[in-house]
Amino acid sequence: MKKYDIAVVGASGMVGGELLGLLEKRRFPVGKLYAFNSGRRAATVKFRGKKYACCAPSFEALKKSDLVFFVSTDEVAEKFAPRLAAAGVACIDDSARFRLAKNVPLVIPEVNGGELKPSKKLIAGPNCTLTGAAVALARVRARYGIKELRLATYQAVSGAGKAAMLRLEEELKASLRGRRLPSGGPFPRPIAFNLFPQVGGFDAEGNSGEENKVEAELKKIWADKAVKISVTSVRVPVLRGHSLAAWVNTRRPFTLAALKKEFARTPGLKFFARAQDYPTPLAHGLRTDIVYAGRLRLAHTSPDEFQLWIVSDNLYKGAALNSVQIAEQLVKL
Ligand SMILES: NC(=O)c1ccc[n+]([C@@H]2O[C@H](COP(=O)([O-])OP(=O)(O)OC[C@H]3O[C@@H](n4cnc5c(N)ncnc54)[C@H](OP(=O)(O)O)[C@@H]3O)[C@@H](O)[C@H]2O)c1
Repeated sequence: MKKYDIAVVGASGMVGGELLGLLEKRRFPVGKLYAFNSGRRAATVKFRGKKYACCAPSFEALKKSDLVFFVSTDEVAEKFAPRLAAAGVACIDDSARFRLAKNVPLVIPEVNGGELKPSKKLIAGPNCTLTGAAVALARVRARYGIKELRLATYQAVSGAGKAAMLRLEEELKASLRGRRLPSGGPFPRPIAFNLFPQVGGFDAEGNSGEENKVEAELKKIWADKAVKISVTSVRVPVLRGHSLAAWVNTRRPFTLAALKKEFARTPGLKFFARAQDYPTPLAHGLRTDIVYAGRLRLAHTSPDEFQLWIVSDNLYKGAALNSVQIAEQLVKL
């Protein structure tokens, strides 16, 4: 079997760690492995029982690979990915930098895997929040169309990286001892025993960066500029697993029984038909390969509208797993 030399830029981070674990678990045909971090601190990562020291990336070092996973920052992706892609190195980028770029496919394999082509060397993975919705709604959208989508999100702190996970743990410990940490760190408000409707900065209309990403990226993945999408993103004190409450208006009439059949057959989705079997981040958002949904019901606001509760692992399907699935599909092309 052909093997591929792989580089992971951001190997010491939250997504990088999961990505290495998934390459191993899913037996991706890795030849040589190169691990990179910022170079600002010493870090080693483990892959197939062997330790790899991370170092700062350079174009020459990255060019030795057949495939580079970018799981670091927008700036790092911008600096290296287009040049590497032009030199024939496949680049899968989990940062936001190229998601809306015209010639860069934004891919969730179960939803729009057909966008992957041998000629497209730079591929983006979407924001971790919308992935659950895109996977869960794929079959229903194909059959009934989606006219309007409203989402309220309940986002885990790991969506903001390693520093954010540590911040929640520190705040929780301090709160339980009756102390409060000085403000600062990765969040705009205290997160322990709290939540806040802000993920990213605000634009002139008062929408957060995350809300804008979900809307724009879903429209690109669905190749549908006309669909109307409204989002409120909330950060909650959950370590891992994003949850979404969705209100969906369809273009064509549906029955609940027919929707249930579509959800039961949706690739990458486990659908709970009974109301009391709903998924939660603790049970279904921790190293899970699929998306979970439940609490399907008619909305009271419109006869064309239904409600759904969705949970997925932001670090797996929302990031590392999606990237590995893209790579698995690329090597088959
Ligand atoms: N977390 C999620 O749920 C999620 C979901 C979808 C997409 N993403 C995206 O995935 C990327 C990584 O997120 P994360 O949550 O894993 O963040 P993280 O835990 O903060 O890790 C960031 C990684 O990037 C490395 N890095 C930082 N600056 C670098 C530089 N100049 N050169 C090389 N490496 C550098 C860090 O190395 P050091 O340790 O040396 O700083 C670390 O390995 C981000 O673009 C994020 O938007 C994250």
